[in-house]
Amino acid sequence: MSTGPPPEELHFSQRPTVTEPIPGPRSSDLLDEQAAKEASTVAYPLSLPIAIDSARGATIEDVDGNVYLDFAAGIGVANVGHSNPYVLEAAQEQLGAVAHTIDFPTEARLEFIDALDSIAPGTLPGNSRVAFGGPTGTNAIEASIKLAKYNTGRNGIVGFDRGYHGGTMGALSLSGWSSYKSDYTPLLPDVAHVPYPRPNEYETSEAALEASLEEVRAVVSGRSEDFETPPAGLWVEPIQGSGGVVVPPDGFLQELAEITARHDVLLIVDEIQTGMGRTGEWFASDHADITPDAVTVGKAVGGAGLPLSATVYREELDTWGPSAHAGTFRGHVPAMKAGSRAIEYIAAHDLLDRATELGAYLQDRLRELKQQCPRLVDVRGRGLLVGAEFRDADGAPLPDLVESIQTRCLRRGLIVWTAGIEGHILRLLPPLVLTDEQAHVGMDILQDVVGTVTDETGR
Ligand SMILES: Cc1ncc(COP(=O)(O)O)c(C=O)c1O
Repeated sequence: MSTGPPPEELHFSQRPTVTEPIPGPRSSDLLDEQAAKEASTVAYPLSLPIAIDSARGATIEDVDGNVYLDFAAGIGVANVGHSNPYVLEAAQEQLGAVAHTIDFPTEARLEFIDALDSIAPGTLPGNSRVAFGGPTGTNAIEASIKLAKYNTGRNGIVGFDRGYHGGTMGALSLSGWSSYKSDYTPLLPDVAHVPYPRPNEYETSEAALEASLEEVRAVVSGRSEDFETPPAGLWVEPIQGSGGVVVPPDGFLQELAEITARHDVLLIVDEIQTGMGRTGEWFASDHADITPDAVTVGKAVGGAGLPLSATVYREELDTWGPSAHAGTFRGHVPAMKAGSRAIEYIAAHDLLDRATELGAYLQDRLRELKQQCPRLVDVRGRGLLVGAEFRDADGAPLPDLVESIQTRCLRRGLIVWTAGIEGHILRLLPPLVLTDEQAHVGMDILQDVVGTVTDETGR
């Protein structure tokens, strides 16, 4: 195997096969058992009631033998497809040698650091350092908060409304989702939120951009109600994923880079959902051609769905000392091996271009659908992070409609996900290895389902 099998050979099949009711008998048993044993925090099976047996490429098989097309990819984890053999082989080899090395050097670790540095945005390649903390995205955010506070000696941290950065207390503080936070306050002090520029909520994108930047300027310069001095850092998703697949107007990230640099405030770009090729570049920051002070990565970075996250930052910020950011799991070596292989696989199989091409196809199909379905009011995204927004004739969000679309797609063998605080946005983020045929079949299913649901509900 040079760089593994081509993307079209990774899957169980090109189309779904649903022969059992959903959930099937075996899935039902496992779902019941889970509900009886596991915490009530379990959420995903409430929307997608299946128990998973195995997965390959862009396909998932449940324990009843139904095969689905996966247009959710573990919410942006399986960029090179589930169980990609080129990636798995290396992770398994590493697992057989040694799995846990705290932060002792291993060849796999150093190779991965080089691989990550080589794809980092802007001028970071050759000038970056990487901190590994805990295994999941939110841990990278916590590291970045500490990095910003340490380097600036300031306390203030700034996020965007409806941004999502994770479930631990610092990341939650930065997130702009009040429903996730309200039961756990007080969170971190000295936190401010500024408006994310949402083009479809303004007459023009320029107006959305200016409204956002005005508040950013005030907060970052320390001339706002929140802060009388500049904060430590500003955290931004280059495309808001969970907040509704919101693509900001052109120039947004460049302006943020300029404003933050003027006040020595760190700009931290959260690429946990948008990174590793999802938007058609290695990182969504690349579309804006900026160099963030720090970038947080997670989700797809562990190659084979193995938990790994990291904070990559400008070398000059590496002022802290041993164990300034600590943890037992400071980077999982099999996940690093998988991560290096995933980077190789993406490059060797031109998956950045594929993400652009396939994303354009998904958006085209959704735009055609928009002509027939007045409840589909907006289609947006970049590469393979695509959103479709549903509202009623009075402009009210339609989360029930989106839920119904998701359920009916599942019954037809297509897994899709949702986004937005109100849950009225359909989010499509399939693996980058999706084939043309799978893309056509998936969008045909979605088209039928949206037509049926809107006809039946009369909305
Ligand atoms: C942009 C962004 N940041 C951070 C996180 C948190 O990552 P994790 O759930 O792996 O902790 C997520 C998760 O969805 C995310 O989308």
